[in-house]
Amino acid sequence: MKHNIATLILAAGWGTRMQSNLPKVLHKVAHQPLLSWVLNAAETLAPVRQIVVVRPGMDQVKEIIGNAHIVLQEKGEGTGAAVMAARPTLEDFKGDVLVLFGDTPFITPETLQCLVETRRSASNPAVVIVGFKPEDPAEYGRIVMNAQDQIERIVEYKDANDTEREIGLCNSGVMAIDGSCLFELVDKLTSNNAKSEYYLTDIIEHARKMGRHCTVVEASEEELMGINSRADLARAELEAQTQLRGAALAMGVTLIDPDSVYLSYDTNLGKDITIGPNVVIMPGVEIRDNVIIHAFCHLEGAKIEEGAIVGPFARLRPGTEIGRDVRIGNFVEVKNSQFEAHSKANHLSYIGDAHIGKKSNIGAGTITCNYDGINKSKTILGENVFIGSNSALVAPVQIGNGAIVAAGSVVTNNVAENALCIARSRQIEKPNGAQIYREQHKKERSNVTLMTVVDNDRPQSNN
Ligand code: UD1
Ligand code: MG
Repeated sequence: MKHNIATLILAAGWGTRMQSNLPKVLHKVAHQPLLSWVLNAAETLAPVRQIVVVRPGMDQVKEIIGNAHIVLQEKGEGTGAAVMAARPTLEDFKGDVLVLFGDTPFITPETLQCLVETRRSASNPAVVIVGFKPEDPAEYGRIVMNAQDQIERIVEYKDANDTEREIGLCNSGVMAIDGSCLFELVDKLTSNNAKSEYYLTDIIEHARKMGRHCTVVEASEEELMGINSRADLARAELEAQTQLRGAALAMGVTLIDPDSVYLSYDTNLGKDITIGPNVVIMPGVEIRDNVIIHAFCHLEGAKIEEGAIVGPFARLRPGTEIGRDVRIGNFVEVKNSQFEAHSKANHLSYIGDAHIGKKSNIGAGTITCNYDGINKSKTILGENVFIGSNSALVAPVQIGNGAIVAAGSVVTNNVAENALCIARSRQIEKPNGAQIYREQHKKERSNVTLMTVVDNDRPQSNN
């Protein structure tokens, strides 16, 4: 159909300046590969075909492209050669072909929409380019306009003369092309230029020779930033974080120091949440309304229900579910564990592969011993359980509703409902033992041979 859209994402460049074994488009910004950012933006146009051009050997790309078709660019260099490689999947297509670059992650759905509308406007341009005016035009291709406000041609930096290099309007690479003439234009490309590459941008001149005109729509520099190096990647991360922080603030989240909070592309935030300084949120985190995340927390793959308070200095690892009004305090690490409503682990604990029932309290220093060097095992606590400080719960182990575990216990067997479990050596007390000990110590120091104090009777020393 005439008005269908096919998106063609060029991702076969080697990305040599990244100095990496990973294809450039798989490098991540806010934890999402560059290519996924572009695919998501393209997806908003409901294209009938999504095509990604890669080189042979870039197999990892296949894992992130969903339903898109992979096309291999086996020969030729340049953006024109990349489009030629897609011929078998696009030759019969007569709608609009949108060309995007896999390393230009922040292109917005609004700009793509504007691009498509301009392509379909009454004057029927053969090609519409997204142009921009960067602060430093550097080595971008320059867009040469004519007196009718149409594009005359695009000249690559390496091929441009001094006057052309003065032009501020640059080519972003993103363009919409009338699919009914795409390959007729591409067939006319040659590699007779400074880089000996097939430049896709040369289709402009060929379209004009065919009597068709080409035009430009403009967008911002931030949106069209291309990533070619690690320094660019760091700049893109900053841009992504700025966008994510801005969106969180707009949704009703308080960020006490926005610049020190790191969000992930998929962070799911409710309302009236407060996030303190220096919080790092990795992928897979959901935080519901009225939650407080205090300073210096590290959260990944965790779901936090309404009214919970986490941190400061807490680490929630994948598989963590924090129920309503739960308290997770400082230096508590939780992995693959569920805390039901109103339960607490306020200080210095490791809770792994555990289920904590409602209103249970885990004392300071409690450790779930979930790994015996071979297997991981579960610790299951019922409701209203109280675990005294510095206890070790040796999994697999279950502690029934209402049970109490005395401080310092090493619990290796299940504990029944409402039982009191004391799993430590019994305390002994020697009347006047302290006095006797001090006297012995004094005599030892004055070099008098004394009756030996049994080692076990000596108080613990810190020396
Ligand atoms: C290109 C444009 C330039 C524009 C700039 C914007 C051309 C000839 N030049 O230049 O006008 O200002 O982008 O960033 O189009 N790719 C392939 N196969 C290849 C070569 C490249 O798929 O053989 C892909 C890359 O993966 C990348 C995109 O095409 O996503 C752009 O390639 P790149 O080499 O970075 O083009 P530039 O020289 O930057
Ligand atoms: Mg480039």
